[in-house]
Amino acid sequence: MNCRALVLAAGHGTRMKSQTPKMLHPLLGRPMLQWVVDACREATGGAVTIVVGPEAADIREGLQGDVSFVVQEERLGTGHAALQAAQVLETVDLVLLVNGDLALVRPGTLARLIERQKEHEGPFTLLAARSSSPRGFGRLIRDEEGRPQRIQEAAHASPEELALKELNVGAYCFRGEWLWENLPRLDLSPKGEYYLTDLVALAADGGEVVATVEVDDMSETVGINNRVHLAEAESTLRDRINRRWMLAGITMQDPVTTYIAAEVELAQDVVLLANTHLEGDTWIGPGTIVGPNSVVRDSSIGARCEIQASVVEGAVLGDEVDVGPFSHLRSGARLENGVHVGNYGEVKNSHLGAGVKMGHFSYLGDATVGEGTNIGAGTITCNYDGKQKHQTEIGARAFIGSDTMLVAPVKIGRGARTGAGAVVTKDVPDGSVAVGVPARVIRKLADNHE
Ligand code: UD1
Ligand code: CA
Repeated sequence: MNCRALVLAAGHGTRMKSQTPKMLHPLLGRPMLQWVVDACREATGGAVTIVVGPEAADIREGLQGDVSFVVQEERLGTGHAALQAAQVLETVDLVLLVNGDLALVRPGTLARLIERQKEHEGPFTLLAARSSSPRGFGRLIRDEEGRPQRIQEAAHASPEELALKELNVGAYCFRGEWLWENLPRLDLSPKGEYYLTDLVALAADGGEVVATVEVDDMSETVGINNRVHLAEAESTLRDRINRRWMLAGITMQDPVTTYIAAEVELAQDVVLLANTHLEGDTWIGPGTIVGPNSVVRDSSIGARCEIQASVVEGAVLGDEVDVGPFSHLRSGARLENGVHVGNYGEVKNSHLGAGVKMGHFSYLGDATVGEGTNIGAGTITCNYDGKQKHQTEIGARAFIGSDTMLVAPVKIGRGARTGAGAVVTKDVPDGSVAVGVPARVIRKLADNHE
């Protein structure tokens, strides 16, 4: 029996009060809709069809993976939205239909819904939940024998109905044929919309039995309608991810202020101190300590490093590298084993060989630095002449004096030295000492500058 997922995402999302489409509001760095789409894909193992509004270019561009779109030209309700996919999914045996704002639903829960539908004769199965704080959910109303009779939307419910605690979560698995036959039979609701949820009454009136699956964890049921819900969802997702990592051997000083994106990978015994943000495609090796107050984005960090109160983006670090406090590694920074970048350092598009020390107030941009070299306090690569960027090359075991300006393009030889305050505009040969403004070579050290 084949099963395809259909996600409804054409609503206006007016309650978000935003210029950004509701479905694109990020949750842990990914569009809200992406979470639902990924859960659907995992549950069905196949492509996902999404119903979007007519002006949905941003949504089409914002989503990743095997997705296709159908357009709902007029927002005439969830029933009308689903109907837009009739042609595309006409021949599918089972349709897993999920509200696009159900960002926290787990793939396993959707899989249970599909399994339940496979094993019974009725037209569909819906995901239900019991809660004492039912907010705006539709209430599930059962007959005396406990069979679902209809769903009452909260907006039109009587006080007695509102007191009911069984809720419609917004995920369903339908027999395809039955769905496409019955969606066009829905009546307009008092609000002027076609409610998908009226299919429960339609089935019951025809003597057919709708099955239910109950969700175990209420945190899965948040339908994000406004920014309060968005913040709640973010905190729930964060909590899930943090728990998973702690159980996998990561120490967190303060999980409440630890923010880890879904795609981040961490090795055992990583320690995350308070207020640490790990974002994007990031990998952190065993025993590394990050934080407090650090951001690591799209970077790979080796084993036993320390990143203290710093920002690391698009960088690759070897083992036992220590950074900070208050430094910034930018895209293309490659730091080999044992590099030390101390206070107020910035490195961009540069390769620092093993054991390079850069303790205080320095900027290296578009540079290569050989291993064991010392970069004195306040050293700056003047890599930009106002039009173009230029390269600086510094050999191994060189000693760059404090406050040296390296006016690129320029090369400093192996084992060479510069004096404090030197402004280097010409290459300095291996093993030579250059001082002054502009810097001149004043002597040569012993020939063996290893
Ligand atoms: C819906 C259910 C309600 C359930 C709740 C769970 C209906 C009528 N009601 O209410 O029983 O308890 O979800 O969160 O289904 N959409 C379209 N086109 C439209 C209207 C909506 O694609 O014309 C999409 C929205 O983008 C959204 C989803 O359908 O992703 C649900 O719509 P929404 O307005 O959020 O429904 P709720 O009022 O939350
Ligand atoms: Ca909703």
